[in-house]
Amino acid sequence: MPYYCPVFGILDDFCRRLMKSTINILAIESSCDETSAAVIADGRVLSNQIATQAMHERFGGVVPEMASRAHMQNIVPVVHAALTDAGVSKEELSAVAFTQAPGLIGSLMVGVCFAKGFAQARQLPLISVHHMQAHVLAHFIDAKPEFPFLCLTVSGGHTQIVLCRDFLDMEVVGTTIDDAAGEAFDKVAKMLGLPYPGGPRVDKNAQLGDPLRFRFPMSEMKDYQYSFSGIKTSVLYFIRDEVKKDPDFVTKNINDICASVQYTIIKMLMAKLTKAAHALKVRHIGIAGGVSANSGLRNALLEAGKKHGWQVYIPKFEYCTDNAAMIGITAHYKFLKGDFCGLDAVPSARAAW
Ligand code: KG4
Ligand code: ZN
Repeated sequence: MPYYCPVFGILDDFCRRLMKSTINILAIESSCDETSAAVIADGRVLSNQIATQAMHERFGGVVPEMASRAHMQNIVPVVHAALTDAGVSKEELSAVAFTQAPGLIGSLMVGVCFAKGFAQARQLPLISVHHMQAHVLAHFIDAKPEFPFLCLTVSGGHTQIVLCRDFLDMEVVGTTIDDAAGEAFDKVAKMLGLPYPGGPRVDKNAQLGDPLRFRFPMSEMKDYQYSFSGIKTSVLYFIRDEVKKDPDFVTKNINDICASVQYTIIKMLMAKLTKAAHALKVRHIGIAGGVSANSGLRNALLEAGKKHGWQVYIPKFEYCTDNAAMIGITAHYKFLKGDFCGLDAVPSARAAW
């Protein structure tokens, strides 16, 4: 039926969808090794389905080609599960959102192509989402941080301090010049013979160890920059030297090594975050990304919040690592602004905001 929009004074399909009482968004995330689909209704998560790809574990890291193939297998059942779990039919959807960047190009392509096909078949608008922006906005699923909001996003590929002035107005004020924090966790875990992904294993062992037993150097970078390649190298040489003296050194001391490495990484992360919070005069502070699942980092933020009088935001575990709910919440705010993309949208392995 033709629709007359009272705001724009035109017959318009977008206005018709906007005026509908509920904005139902199907969101797809496929940037790395997680195939995820979520359904978001007016910014509320009705379903968030995640298919993890365990096969990478035996290779000690994500194998891009295998990840793409697994996404191809998973995407239809995962989307089906999300719609069924949400109790939302295809006819009730208002838009389809997908992760456009950054990520593994083959993995991204699966999500982008699926979203395009789905949107075309159902005549739905498409919303392209930046994965790093989505990690930050994951905080707005269950809470309502006030702006300006400062978020430390720490994942396997990124370490960023993001100043958020509004939902879609963000600036990266600090970043790493080399490895990401998650990468440092994963590489140290590999040196210790722990399986991939190493971050959660280091965290688990660290909870049983002494964080002050071994000392590792903290990098001294300017402004709000990070560097994690130094700690990686110093752990490598430390283990090499100690194993020469005692071949069982790692087995005997694994908990203390994990606790000491974790302590140093968190100290570096928190030092720059605190510096930025003071300089930018922000009191609403959060952490996001896979490493925000780390028990030590979560505690450190809580303590810093008490010490500095910050309101702190720690995401639920399911919203720390990659998930489509965060893509959906970002898409929700883009939908409200009418920020859609065309069928010519292309994925990008690396992309500025
Ligand atoms: O955000 P994410 O799921 O994927 C990327 O976009 O990279 O982050 C994955 C990273 C991995 O490096 C993983 O080891 C790390 O998050 N990670 C953790 C913990 N859980 C996941 N690192 C430290 N402690 C954890 N508990
Ligand atoms: Zn991520």
